[in-house]
Amino acid sequence: MPRNNDEIITTSELRQLAYNEKMAELGEISAGVVHELNAPLSVIISASQMIMREEGVPLFVQEMICRINSEAQRLSQLAKGLLNFSSHDNSITEVDLNYTIDFILNFLNIEVAKRGIVVLKQLDHTLPFILMDANLLRQVLLNIIMNALQAMEEQGGKLLVESAMSANDKVSFVITDNGPGIPTDSIDRIFDRYFTTKKSGEGTGLGLFVTKNLLESIGGNISVANRSGGGTSFTVTIPIQ
Ligand SMILES: Nc1ncnc2c1ncn2[C@@H]1O[C@H](COP(=O)(O)OP(=O)(O)OP(=O)(O)O)[C@@H](O)[C@H]1O
Ligand SMILES: [Mg+2]
Repeated sequence: MPRNNDEIITTSELRQLAYNEKMAELGEISAGVVHELNAPLSVIISASQMIMREEGVPLFVQEMICRINSEAQRLSQLAKGLLNFSSHDNSITEVDLNYTIDFILNFLNIEVAKRGIVVLKQLDHTLPFILMDANLLRQVLLNIIMNALQAMEEQGGKLLVESAMSANDKVSFVITDNGPGIPTDSIDRIFDRYFTTKKSGEGTGLGLFVTKNLLESIGGNISVANRSGGGTSFTVTIPIQ
């Protein structure tokens, strides 16, 4: 039976939507490809380590090998992270908000670089762990940050990511961009299912709908405000337990 926008969505539908959304964001990268990347990367890592142990290697070669080794390790970490990202594992673990922010920013490195965006972070490094599904937090951060990046296609984009304690039992993070902001006539609708201002094929209008529902399913919340100087701020609050 067809349902209207106001009807409650079930948790399994929500997870399915969230998963579809996540896979769409991951684009062409499939878990299989990532898996295949790990084999050649481990060869590069161990071969470079063997060369580094050799005697009499000229200094400049040592430096370059060291570089190759650390870049290969970085790629390998990223590939492992992507595998975790696309897993169906929804188990509750101790999640580090700041680490997850860094993970998502690292994941979106190319999107940031191709738009020439400057990323600023003001993270509270004394935050406690949150007991939650790590994939849910990644999904939420990815949706909000990706929207911010997409809003800043013009030169001079700045993204500010802040984390802080909010009351005694909650943590919060704020994602601020200096894009065009959200027009007042649509700001109340951005969390609606299928609301998008993007061209067909570029946006489904599910990102913020899924994000809000996921957060509410764990007792968290999300709010939005336009900044007076232009741009938008999204504030997310999540209970620690
Ligand atoms: N940081 C932002 N700055 C300006 N507008 C925004 C921002 N974030 C969201 N929006 C507006 O909210 C709309 C809904 O966002 P939402 O993430 O739900 O869908 P989408 O980004 O259009 O599509 P999808 O996330 O499925 O790719 C966007 O189309 C855009 O108009
Ligand atoms: Mg979106």
